[in-house]
Amino acid sequence: MEFKDVIQNRHSYRSFTDRPIGLATLEAIVSDAKQAPSWANAQPWQIVIATGEVLAQIKDGHRLRSRRGVAGNADLTVAHRTEWTAASRNNIATWNGDLSQHLLANDAQSSYGQTQDNLFNAAALVYLVLREPVNEWAIFDLGAFSQTLMLSATNHGIQSIPAYEVVRYPDALRETFALDETHRFIMGIALGYRNQTAINDFRSQRVANQNFLTIKD
Ligand SMILES: Cc1cc2nc3c(=O)[nH]c(=O)nc-3n(C[C@H](O)[C@H](O)[C@H](O)COP(=O)(O)O)c2cc1C
Repeated sequence: MEFKDVIQNRHSYRSFTDRPIGLATLEAIVSDAKQAPSWANAQPWQIVIATGEVLAQIKDGHRLRSRRGVAGNADLTVAHRTEWTAASRNNIATWNGDLSQHLLANDAQSSYGQTQDNLFNAAALVYLVLREPVNEWAIFDLGAFSQTLMLSATNHGIQSIPAYEVVRYPDALRETFALDETHRFIMGIALGYRNQTAINDFRSQRVANQNFLTIKD
């Protein structure tokens, strides 16, 4: 795929088909992702991927907790809206409004919640784990790893979504993978082949460069 096509074709997809992703493909995507830069080449990431039976168990547990209203306790603090700048709050409000309108127009209002409960019916869940001690630069490095991973997935014809929802219950994940408290489940990315469904047709906007870009010469 042309680089510009890879960039333009990466979107957050929220509903995947039952088609599995081959292990060799997952390995290839992770091999691309590890080319990301990191602080002094620290490569702080630990990557845990769930597929098959383990994935099915994780999805069942997640759906149960979510539908029972069990509060999430993600390893990173969920920022209150007042911890975002006015500009970001405005972008978030625009996104919320656009998404609501899209779902209403397609008579699919309940689909957003359903996709979250079902972890997007992902074919694979990629967990981005950091070992304690965690520092802010390592979190930056994980962002670079994540974006490279998602672009590589797109290049392999696989869609993705980075989602807080995937790491909402990290204690259960540590138990599933027999990992101790020093393993922080910072973020998760769902991968799969896209379903033909209204929620997957939603496209988020971007603000004009002048809203955030300064170039001085
Ligand atoms: C840190 C982070 C957490 C996110 N968590 C969720 C989530 O829990 N559920 C969800 O549906 N989308 C989630 N998203 C996806 C964003 O809504 C999406 O990236 C944004 O609206 C831009 O749309 P795009 O990815 O299609 O370009 C998350 C994205 C990021 C980067």
